[in-house]
Amino acid sequence: MLQNYLRYFVYPLGVVCLLALGLFLSGKHSWASGDAASPTVKNSLAESAPPKTGPELFASHCSACHGLKGDGKGPATRNLHPKPRDFRSGEFRLVSTRNRRATRQDIERVIQHGVPGTSMQSFDNLPASQRTLLARQVLAFWRAGARAAATAELESDQREFSEQELEQLVAQRTTPQETIVPIFGDPDPRQVVAGGNLYFKQGCQACHGDDGVGAQDVWLVDNKRRQTRPRDLVHEPLKGGSTMESIYLRLLLGMPGTPHPSSANLTDEQLIALTHFCRSLAREPTLVSTNYQRSLWSTCRQYLSAREDAKK
Ligand code: HEC
Ligand code: HEC
Repeated sequence: MLQNYLRYFVYPLGVVCLLALGLFLSGKHSWASGDAASPTVKNSLAESAPPKTGPELFASHCSACHGLKGDGKGPATRNLHPKPRDFRSGEFRLVSTRNRRATRQDIERVIQHGVPGTSMQSFDNLPASQRTLLARQVLAFWRAGARAAATAELESDQREFSEQELEQLVAQRTTPQETIVPIFGDPDPRQVVAGGNLYFKQGCQACHGDDGVGAQDVWLVDNKRRQTRPRDLVHEPLKGGSTMESIYLRLLLGMPGTPHPSSANLTDEQLIALTHFCRSLAREPTLVSTNYQRSLWSTCRQYLSAREDAKK
């Protein structure tokens, strides 16, 4: 009985214990140092580590809309109105330079504040250093696009051209000139009145309507032949923000790529008056619309105005 007990239970148990002790001692080195396991640990950490470079940051924060290559063809694009900017061939709307080329600061401002009234949200939560990297990445896409276009143009001339000639052409098209910094004195009610007169003299009402809410009967497209519409200056948020500085720049420089024109023919005094007038139109709270509504408003304005008429 005891023999059976020893044979079937105690002996095997001893063997198992010895084996376990042997394994513990011999494996001490590899277990304790953890070398064998660490590469996988490091890899999985690397995968979840925050992105550091411009391309990495762009891929994680921007590519869903702007596309991995910055061509505005991210997977979310089909549901958006207006469409995300194509950085390779699009024009930046919110510029501050004489020749309407975006500076890094222009792009950083957009990344920090977003484009109100569109799906381009603010990335204020990112550290400033990351927004700078992202702005550099956007400009790198833009220059690459300009370079590809310039190369194609020079090639179509069917003559030899040097790398230097190509570089010069790209630099000429992408280098921003000096930044315009408008300066405003204290607001004066007379300026609002003068600005109101200029609003009609300059033909702003043709698109924005007599009362600034946007004419119903204009059909407009942007430089990509996409339907767009004049801003409702009373109820909608302004894309560049409603500071005097931003409105002034939009009036002086226009919004490149959109039908909104530049009023560079006006004197500085007139521009300041018009800026005061536009600012005086804005009411709070501003109208916040969805992509679907914006798309409808751009494409079915006649339908909407007919419905408004029917209500009267
Ligand atoms: C949810 C979609 C979405 C995401 C994500 C997004 N954008 Fe945009 N972005 C847009 C749309 C839409 C516009 C166009 C707005 C317009 O035309 O008024 C735009 C416009 C822009 C512009 C052009 C501004 C100008 O002056 O014309 C820049 C620059 C830009 N985005 C940078 C970025 C960067 C950098 C990121 C990532 C940190 C990013 N966007 C993430 C949708 C997005
Ligand atoms: C041909 C039509 C047209 C005319 C004329 C026009 N605009 Fe615009 N305007 C637009 C469109 C379209 C937009 C919206 C552009 C966009 O966001 O894509 C706009 C946008 C604006 C904005 C918004 C800027 C922002 O930050 O969002 C202001 C302010 C403005 N216009 C004022 C004026 C004034 C003042 C005049 C007259 C000097 C004028 N517009 C003439 C079509 C026009």
